[in-house]
Amino acid sequence: MSVYLPRPFVVDAVERETADTVTLVIRPQSGLAPAMKAGQFAMLSAFGTGEVPISVSRIARDRLHHTIRHVGEATRALTALKTGDSLGFRGPFGTAWPLAAAVGKDLLVLAGGLGLAPLRPVLDYVMNHRDRFARVSVLYGTREVSQVLFGRDHKAWRSLMSLRMTVDHDVRQPDCAPWSGQVGVITKLIPKATYDAQNTVAMVCGPEIMMRFSARDLEASGIERANIHVSLERNMKCAVGLCGHCQLSNFLVCRDGAVLSYDRVAPLLTVREL
Ligand SMILES: Cc1cc2nc3c(=O)[nH]c(=O)nc-3n(C[C@H](O)[C@H](O)[C@H](O)COP(=O)(O)OP(=O)(O)OC[C@H]3O[C@@H](n4cnc5c(N)ncnc54)[C@H](O)[C@@H]3O)c2cc1C
Ligand code: FES
Repeated sequence: MSVYLPRPFVVDAVERETADTVTLVIRPQSGLAPAMKAGQFAMLSAFGTGEVPISVSRIARDRLHHTIRHVGEATRALTALKTGDSLGFRGPFGTAWPLAAAVGKDLLVLAGGLGLAPLRPVLDYVMNHRDRFARVSVLYGTREVSQVLFGRDHKAWRSLMSLRMTVDHDVRQPDCAPWSGQVGVITKLIPKATYDAQNTVAMVCGPEIMMRFSARDLEASGIERANIHVSLERNMKCAVGLCGHCQLSNFLVCRDGAVLSYDRVAPLLTVREL
């Protein structure tokens, strides 16, 4: 089958996350769901509108979860899908978070905004294999309280790992619970996390400015660049390393990334407005 041909999938459930973000729980119309790894993405298409890269946000036995924010035409159409609707799926594509490299070590997960979605499969893995890791700390920042994702998972996460949250602005909807986290940028949380820098793997996902400053502070705290991993975003078309749409310096992000170690991309992350 051509790598360009989307496979028909069906929406099994729609979970509303925030005002502009939903999670689609999807499955193939026939056959088994493809095996995806934490950090990989698929090209999802709402028929007639376009195809966009979306990370997997939960990997279930026969279902895949994709958490999508409405920013333009294709994501508008995808976030408008209802249970029972069809969509196109190509993938999986891209590299995975290096979970095996973190086994036996402290794990530091830093997520900014929607960046928690590609990292949620990592947290699911930790929940299922907690004994494989030493200390696990999750640092999560969003612009506002109303944009906090996956609140229904937080209690379980807190039972097996440390979860610290911060918001840029403490703006609440009237029906929101009081905010107990910090206010300020995510890098303020790094000194509060407990880890042995010589024995830590860090996974960072969010807006590029957030990854740039987070990686810089993690390195300053003693974590080697090779043990800090980030996930890059670029416009994509083919997703299989052929069209050049996602080229960034020597990398094709669809093929070489999206997850890459900081030692490989640090010079690129220092470019303002990358
Ligand atoms: C590897 C990878 C994984 C991704 N995973 C997810 C995911 O899990 N969930 C998700 O919602 N999105 C994810 N994205 C981003 C998503 O692909 C884009 O938001 C989407 O392509 C926008 O298409 P559109 O047609 O809706 O908007 P467009 O018409 O292409 O753009 C509309 C507006 O949104 C802006 N925009 C476009 N892309 C982005 C972006 N990446 N971030 C912020 N603003 C953008 C444009 O500058 C423009 O102003 C991922 C991207 C990559 C490369
Ligand atoms: S999207 Fe075509 S080369 Fe990456």
